[in-house]
Amino acid sequence: MSLRVIFLGPPGAGKGTQADELAREWGVPHIATGDMLREAARRGTPLGLEAKRFMDEGALVPDDVVIGLVGERLAEPDAVSGAVLDGFPRTVAQAEALDRLLREQGTALDRVIFFNVSRPELLRRLTGRRVCRGCGATYHVVSAPPRVPGVCDRCQGQLEQRVDDREEAVATRLDVYETQTSPLLEYYRRRSILTEIKGEGAVEDVAAAIRTAVGQAVPS
Ligand code: AP5
Ligand code: MG
Ligand code: ZN
Repeated sequence: MSLRVIFLGPPGAGKGTQADELAREWGVPHIATGDMLREAARRGTPLGLEAKRFMDEGALVPDDVVIGLVGERLAEPDAVSGAVLDGFPRTVAQAEALDRLLREQGTALDRVIFFNVSRPELLRRLTGRRVCRGCGATYHVVSAPPRVPGVCDRCQGQLEQRVDDREEAVATRLDVYETQTSPLLEYYRRRSILTEIKGEGAVEDVAAAIRTAVGQAVPS
């Protein structure tokens, strides 16, 4: 099976939560540029350190950096079967670059899923989010708490708040989304591959809506 899907939506919409489960279910890699950049920053690579300056403020990392990173990742063997792209593309220039990359590989996108979530809910999710230092698993202090406060259920790692989940950076990220990323809705709508889903409600209900949208319903 081959499946190439973009999860598109504002910060905190639930892209990572859904991609984590669904990519595993579909047998394709979950490619999240935010996770890749945070990992590079943690390792202290030159690219990671450059990216961190933008990320901590809630600004976008320059297009050429991110496009280079995704180009390399899509060339790895496991991405032959497809991918769930989470947080990329985020600008029209990135979307055009992705079209070129896929064309060179003789493939194309199957679907773009837009997660529609209201602003108050985004703020609630971002301010309550906690992430595992060890494995990156995502929690929410109210709606998805770990069994033991502050400790990861999967790996016993310590949970922490992302630097860019502080109030000032969150406001910047929401503005950046509106001005730079939301034009992609029209970009993909014109290509007739955009499906909007309701990103609010139980995690499992959102997952079901996504499965239906990409035609990968789980037989019951
Ligand atoms: P990135 O890491 O991609 O952050 P983002 O797009 O802002 O999105 P988030 O990860 O904050 O939210 P999400 O949609 O994954 O939500 P989640 O599932 O965690 O990017 C970070 C930074 O990296 C950018 O600001 C930029 O600097 C840089 N960057 C990355 N990609 C780039 C690119 N292409 N170009 C340039 N720069 C780039 O869920 C959020 C919370 O809600 C969690 O607590 C979760 O438990 C909870 N939750 C999830 N679903 C539900 C539900 N159904 N009900 C209740 N709670 C829920
Ligand atoms: Mg995410
Ligand atoms: Zn963990």
